[in-house]
Amino acid sequence: MSGIDVIYLDNAATSFPKPPEVAEAILEFLTHKAGNPGRSGHSLAVAADAVVAETRRSLASLLGVRDPSRLVFTLNGTAALNLAMYGLLRPGDRVVTTSMEHNSVARPLFALAERGVDVIWLPCAQDGSLDLEDLDRALRAAPTRLVAMTHASNVCGTILPIGAAAELAHRHGALLLVDAAQTAGVLPIDVTEQSIDLLAFPGHKGLLGPTGTGALYVAPGVHLTPMQQGGTGTHSELLSQPDELPFALEAGTVNTVGIAGLSAALRVLKATGIEAVRAREASLVERLLEGLQEIRGVTVHGPLDSAQRVAVVSVILHGWEPVDVGAALDSAFGIAVRPGLHCAPLAHRTLGTFPLGTVRLAPGYSTTDDEIDQALVALRELSLSAG
Ligand code: ALA
Repeated sequence: MSGIDVIYLDNAATSFPKPPEVAEAILEFLTHKAGNPGRSGHSLAVAADAVVAETRRSLASLLGVRDPSRLVFTLNGTAALNLAMYGLLRPGDRVVTTSMEHNSVARPLFALAERGVDVIWLPCAQDGSLDLEDLDRALRAAPTRLVAMTHASNVCGTILPIGAAAELAHRHGALLLVDAAQTAGVLPIDVTEQSIDLLAFPGHKGLLGPTGTGALYVAPGVHLTPMQQGGTGTHSELLSQPDELPFALEAGTVNTVGIAGLSAALRVLKATGIEAVRAREASLVERLLEGLQEIRGVTVHGPLDSAQRVAVVSVILHGWEPVDVGAALDSAFGIAVRPGLHCAPLAHRTLGTFPLGTVRLAPGYSTTDDEIDQALVALRELSLSAG
């Protein structure tokens, strides 16, 4: 239980509760360090800069990034994805993506298609999985600039094979952009070993930080055109945007307060260990999936093997609309879930759950077995009465 009277199963939207160290670090930063990083040169500016630099280093170490300056802070995962796609793609470029994408990938690509980018949507299977032969075929068909894909579905948790996708993309001269919204902090990621060219992620989900934080990793040799120009605290004599990262893509003051919170979250995550997070979440998912299969009238979407998914489980309760299940779980049982389309209409079309969507249960590292059991009791009760 989180300290407030709610069983929180909406960690795919944002993780909660945050480790107490996050709020403590934010208070400490605002009280003692809140200068503008990289500007001014006084002690508060230097203190703020140290926090930003330390956070960049922690992220780099977590994600296998060799040069921390290739991590650009953004407002969230969506901003990082937009920066990657708008920064890279030009009219005439070809992009291959999947039918499991969140709108944070799908909408920018839809808009870019209207500007002359050729977007190929690969249909995934009904459990959300991607057939690598389909990807290979699409890449053989024509020269491709980018493969853009989610690491794991925010609807049904299915993990996509990003390592193999990187290999295929590179064999055909394309770059790989990974949306790690549901995996950063919960699955091991090593951009160097996995040859990921662009990795976009929020700080407020699996990384346990506050909202308003996120980042984009840009591999050496990949050049992105900045989406905005402005002050960087470097080369102030120039009217052109400096070329070097992270400043080329980080105009304006970053969210230092949020980054201070993220820094503390990363320390907690490091002490816990990603492997421990993954093992705990897999055990919660197994408990949840086992219990769900014993409830009549429940359909579970996505793979039943916890090794093939993250802790994001989508269900349909027959006789109920998902939105009513969400409301009933909230009002009658104090259980927070997310019903509906989860900003991923294409994924729901793939699963066959469009337009009503599903009820999504997303436990996190601090969810207890008892909370899973209470959710199962609640769903069993609802299944016995029609919506
Ligand atoms: N993308 C977030 C979700 O899946 C907000 O709920």
